Amino acid sequence: MKFGQFDDVRKEYVINTPQTPYPWINYLGNEQFFGLISNTAGGYTFYRDARLRRLTRYRYNNIPLDTGGRYYYLRDHDNNDFWTPGWMPVKRELDFYECRHGLGYTSITGERGGISVNQLAFIPLGYNGEVHRLTIKNTSNANKTVSLFSFAEFCLWNAQDDMTNFQRNLSTGEVEVQDSVIYHKTEYRERRNHYAFYSVNRKIDGFDTDRESFVGLYNGLHEPQVVVAGKASNSVASGWSPIGSHEVKLTLAPGEEQSLVFILGYVEIPEEEKWEAPSVINKKPALAMIEQFATDADVDRALQELAAYWENLLSKYQINSGDDKLNRMVNIWNPYQCMVTFNMSRSASYFESGIGRGMGFRDSNQDLLGFVHQIPERAKERILDIAATQFEDGSAYHQYQPLTKKGNNEVGTGFNDDPLWLILGTAAYIKETGDTSILDEQVPFDSNPNNTATLFEHLKRSFYHVINNLGPHGLPLIGRADWNDCLNLNCFSNEPGESFQTTANIEGRVAESVFIAGLFVFVGPDFAELCRMRGLEAEANEAVSHIDNMRATTLNHGFDGDWFLRAYDHYGEKIGSKENEEGQIFIEPQGMCVMAGIGVEEGLADKAMVSVQERLDTKYGIVLQQPPYSKYYLNLGEISTYPPGYKENAGIFCHNNPWIMIAETVLGHGDRAFEVYSKIAPAYLEDISEIHRMEPYVYSQMIAGKDAVRHGEAKNSWLTGTAAWNYVAITQAILGIQADFNGLKVDPCIPSAWDGFEITRVFRGDTYVIKISNPNHVSKGVKSITLNGAAVEGIVIPPVGDGGTHEVVVVLG
Ligand code: GLC
Ligand code: GLC
Repeated sequence: MKFGQFDDVRKEYVINTPQTPYPWINYLGNEQFFGLISNTAGGYTFYRDARLRRLTRYRYNNIPLDTGGRYYYLRDHDNNDFWTPGWMPVKRELDFYECRHGLGYTSITGERGGISVNQLAFIPLGYNGEVHRLTIKNTSNANKTVSLFSFAEFCLWNAQDDMTNFQRNLSTGEVEVQDSVIYHKTEYRERRNHYAFYSVNRKIDGFDTDRESFVGLYNGLHEPQVVVAGKASNSVASGWSPIGSHEVKLTLAPGEEQSLVFILGYVEIPEEEKWEAPSVINKKPALAMIEQFATDADVDRALQELAAYWENLLSKYQINSGDDKLNRMVNIWNPYQCMVTFNMSRSASYFESGIGRGMGFRDSNQDLLGFVHQIPERAKERILDIAATQFEDGSAYHQYQPLTKKGNNEVGTGFNDDPLWLILGTAAYIKETGDTSILDEQVPFDSNPNNTATLFEHLKRSFYHVINNLGPHGLPLIGRADWNDCLNLNCFSNEPGESFQTTANIEGRVAESVFIAGLFVFVGPDFAELCRMRGLEAEANEAVSHIDNMRATTLNHGFDGDWFLRAYDHYGEKIGSKENEEGQIFIEPQGMCVMAGIGVEEGLADKAMVSVQERLDTKYGIVLQQPPYSKYYLNLGEISTYPPGYKENAGIFCHNNPWIMIAETVLGHGDRAFEVYSKIAPAYLEDISEIHRMEPYVYSQMIAGKDAVRHGEAKNSWLTGTAAWNYVAITQAILGIQADFNGLKVDPCIPSAWDGFEITRVFRGDTYVIKISNPNHVSKGVKSITLNGAAVEGIVIPPVGDGGTHEVVVVLG
C-alpha cells in the first residue's frame, strides 16, 4: 500500500495522509543550522550540534510518538473551531491534506472549514534560522476572521541536561519580547554568548512565552488553553518552560490569501557586544537576520537559491534509464540521503536522539564515499578532522564530537577496522579530485597540535596497525569489534546494562576477524598506489607483499569449504562456520572478501556468493547471518542479545547488502547484483509501505529478517552507512562509472536484458555525457569506448580538463 507518490519533476515525495505508518521526516539545512521535520510538522532544530546547541525541545519516545514541533494553530472566530494544517497535534479531520518533502524544504497544506493553510519550512543557504512561510487562504464564499497562533517550545540548549536536570532548569528560563519578536535567552546572563529568536513579519495581536500559560497545566498540545479561548495571554516566562507563540488576527475576504513569514533563528555574539543595556540583550544581529526575510519575494529568492544549489549538487551524476524508480534513486533521493548522512553522521534522526553519538570514525569515512563528488572540499575537511583523532600507533578514537572535534573518551578506541576506513575515504577523495596535496597536510595525533605528521603518514600507520596486530592464524585481531559493532569477542559482559562498546575487554590477542582481512585486501591496493604516486616504490612493494600474504592467509584460514569464515573467537574457535550450531554463515566476509577479489581465481568467491543466495537471501533482502542466535553467548557479545531476526542478529542490514551487490559485479553477475539492489532500494518498496513502514524515499539501517515476527518491517531510517554504500554499489559497480586515480573508469555490470542507458557525470570540472549501449545483451564487458569520437584504450577515460562537455560512447559486448 502507498501513502503518497514521487513527484520526480519537482523532486519531492508527496504524502497524501498524515497517518503514515510511521512519522515520515525530512531534513532542513546543509551547513551549520539544521532541522528535522515530519509530515505532521513534528521535530526540532539545532545549531551544529544536536546535543549542545538544541534550539527547540523534542521528546523522544513520546505518546503519541511524534508530538512537539512547529505548530501553527488556526482558530476560526466565527465558529470557535481550531485545527492544525499538519493534522497533529489537534487531529481535527482535514478536508484536504498534503505534505511535500523536497530537497531541504517541507511544505504541508491542510484545509478545513473553508480555510486552507500552507506551512512551508526551510533553512536558507548560509542562514542560521528556519524560515516558515504560512499562507492562509479563504476558500469559502464568506468573510472569515481567524487567528493564527504559532508555537515552538524552546530547549534550554543542552538537550541532555534539558531532559534531566529539572531542579536547576525549571528556574533558569528567561525571555524578552519586543515588537513581534520573542527572544529566548536562558543562561545568556552567564556563560552563553548565543540566544534564539522567533519572529513574524507583521504586527502581532498577542504573544505567549510561558508554556503553562499557553497550554494549561492539565492540557495537551492538542488543546492549548489560549487557542481554546481564542486569545493570547501575553505571558512572560520566568523559569519553568519558555516557549514562543504569536497571535496574528486576520480577516480574509472570499478567495483572499495572505502570507506571513516566521523565523526561528540562532544568534551568536562576541562577548563584549552581548548587551545593549543592563539585562537587555543585543538584538541587532537578530533584527538583521529578520530583515533578510521581510517579504515573500525574499522567501522566493532563497527558495530558488536552494533549488539551484541542489540542482548543482545532483548534476554531478545523473542517469537516464528506462526505469523511473532507478532514476529517482540515483538522481535524487540516494544522493540526498548521502548528504544528510554526511552532515549528521549518526547524531539526530527519529531513531538517534541527538545526544547519544558523535561522529563515528568508520561511519564518517564511509559516509563520504557517497558524498565526495557533491562537495569535495567538505569531504577534505572531514578527512582531516577524522585523521586528527587517530593515535600514533594508527589506532583511532571510535567517535568524536562535532563541536569540539575531539576524540570521545567515553567510547575510546580498539575497534580494529577503524583505521583502514581512513585509507578508503582519503583514496575516494583523491580519485574524485586528483588532489594529492591532501597527503602532505600536517595532521595531529589525538588532537594534539604539537604532535603532527602528514596525512600520508597517518594512512601508513592505519595500514600497519593491521600488520602490527595479527593473531595466531596471521589474521587481523578484532579488538573491541570490527564493522559489526555487536560482535564483541573479547567483552564477556555479564552485568545487565553494561555497554558492549566500552566495557573492559579481556585482551587475549587471540580473537581474529576475517572481515578485517578482507577489508585490508580491499583497501590495501589504494595505499600501495598512493605510495607509488609519491615515488615510494619500495614502500609500495612492501605493502603489496603484505596484501598478498593476507590474501593467502584468508584463503588458508578464513575459508570454510563453501564460504568465508567470520572470525576466530577468544578461544581460537571458529565463528561463521558450518561447524557452529548457530551463526554458521555471515554476510560481511562474503561481501568484503569477494569485493577484494579473494578467491575469485580459485572459484571460491563464486561458491561464497552461491552460499549467500542459498542461505541468507529473503524476499526483503539478505540477512546478516544464519541461523540466528537463539540465546545469549557470553563469548559473542551484543549480537546475541537481539531477538532473532533483528539488528545484527540476522536482521537485513541494508549497509552490507551492497557489498554483495558489488561482489556480484566483481564476478560479472549483473542480473543478481541488480536483483539485490532493487530488493532494498526504497523506491522499489513504496508499494509495500504498510509492511516496510519507513519513508519510501530513503534507506533504513535495518529490515527485520526472516526469523523475526515482523519480517520486512524496517527501522532506523536516514542515518546509516547504507546510504553511501548503496550509492557506491549502484553508481560505481552496477552502472559502472567510477572515479579512479587517473581518470573516469567505465565498467558496468548490469542485467543482461538492459539495452543501455545514459549517464551525465561531472568529473574534475568536465562534464561527460556517457551513452552506454548493450547490443549483445551481456552483463559485463566493455567492447569499445570513444571520447569525443576518438577511440579510448582500456576502460579509463583520461580527464580532458578543459571544463567542457564531452561525449563518451560505450559499447558493451
Ligand atoms: C551501525 C554503526 C556502524 C556499524 C553497524 C554494524 O550502523 O553505526 O558503525 O558498523 O551498525 O554494527
Ligand atoms: C548498537 C547497535 C549497533 C550500533 C552500535 C553503536 O550496538 O546495535 O548497530 O552500531 O550500537 O554504538
